[in-house]
Amino acid sequence: MIPASNAGAATLSFRPGSGPGPAVRLSGVSKEFGADATKTVALADVSLDLPYGELVLLVGPSGCGKTTLISVVAGLLDATRGEVEVLGENLTRMGGGRKVRFRGDNIGFVFQQYNLLPALTAVENACVPLLIAGVPRAKAVAKAAELLTAVGLGARLKSYPSQLSGGQQQRVAIARALVHEPRLLVCDEPTAALDAASGRTVMGLIREVAVQPDRAVIVVTHDSRVYDFGDRIVKMADGKIEGVEAKNGTGFGEPGA
Ligand SMILES: Nc1ncnc2c1ncn2[C@@H]1O[C@H](COP(=O)(O)OP(=O)(O)OP(=O)(O)O)[C@@H](O)[C@H]1O
Ligand SMILES: [Mg+2]
Repeated sequence: MIPASNAGAATLSFRPGSGPGPAVRLSGVSKEFGADATKTVALADVSLDLPYGELVLLVGPSGCGKTTLISVVAGLLDATRGEVEVLGENLTRMGGGRKVRFRGDNIGFVFQQYNLLPALTAVENACVPLLIAGVPRAKAVAKAAELLTAVGLGARLKSYPSQLSGGQQQRVAIARALVHEPRLLVCDEPTAALDAASGRTVMGLIREVAVQPDRAVIVVTHDSRVYDFGDRIVKMADGKIEGVEAKNGTGFGEPGA
């Protein structure tokens, strides 16, 4: 349905090779917000390797540091201490401009609050990463429309975010994150606003597009219906990794099984 290669790949200028290492490596990563009496330790000395070719689920109670961890991995937040390697590149030492370009070329991010641009229609929102990468508008719109159709929004391409339900906005955000076929896809609660059938469609699409030998996916979730789609579960508590469980997800189990 969605080709695993290529829309605009020729124009994506900065794609490091997958190499022998992990897709993501965190070494002794801490993240603190504020100072002294107001200091919050969101990540406390986290070390974690995530391989290529897998969909990793990140789970744990509210406030345990899940969004912080994936924001550090995606280069949206700087760690207070420690080293962050993504797709073989050391983000900790990467300068601001290069990091923005690296992120644009290689990382797709689905935010917990969707973050759609209110003045753009669904299809315009979904094609933004391709336009930034220099893909011609007609081609970008066609690819975005294809993904929106795959998530059940083929009839809402020209709707603005304010005219869409929460679940519909969430699906636009997912189409936007997948449209440039990023090597690393990071999703924060991508099914929270979706019914069971839409949730399964979205997770199936994420597996189809993003689970490839040279790609990796991290999905933060509270949604047990999503567990069948994961290859590995990373459990967090109080800013730390509590455990990692490999489970070889197929994505075709029954919801809630
Ligand atoms: N910008 C910030 N300033 C201060 N504290 C913050 C900031 N962002 C997060 N925190 C704190 O860091 C901790 C981890 O927050 P985080 O958003 O990573 O949790 P979470 O696991 O994603 O929770 P949820 O499941 O509710 O989304 C929390 O105690 C939170 O209050
Ligand atoms: Mg969160």
